[in-house]
Amino acid sequence: MSTISDFNNAAQAGMDREHEVQLSLLRTLCEAVREQRNTVEVAQLLEQFSAYCEAHFVSEELIMRQNSFDEYEDHADDHCHMMDLLRVIAIDNAIGKSSEMNAVTDEALAFIENHIGTRDKRFADFLRTTP
Ligand SMILES: [Fe+2]
Repeated sequence: MSTISDFNNAAQAGMDREHEVQLSLLRTLCEAVREQRNTVEVAQLLEQFSAYCEAHFVSEELIMRQNSFDEYEDHADDHCHMMDLLRVIAIDNAIGKSSEMNAVTDEALAFIENHIGTRDKRFADFLRTTP
């Protein structure tokens, strides 16, 4: 018979895979921005990454709420900040501010790497110890 713990372990494995995809998509976007690829190509990569982030954040937040995670608010604030950064990149791309896009995409990569290494790790530890 499966338990909450089995469900949480499966959810954790899924989130780990999603984090890998998330980092890979963002690194691809950073590279495209660094190489100053055209606006349409950058917009497509950004759209793909934004949609993935949104779906991932929603599912992660759902699992947090199901488990009454004690850092839910701060964690969800990080997700909002990440989506805000992506909106800034979209605006910079649309108006052709390529030099500023480099800085913001690098900031987004550093931010999400730190988020995965700290807040997501804390949530994974929480799930592991939840009976
Ligand atoms: Fe997260």
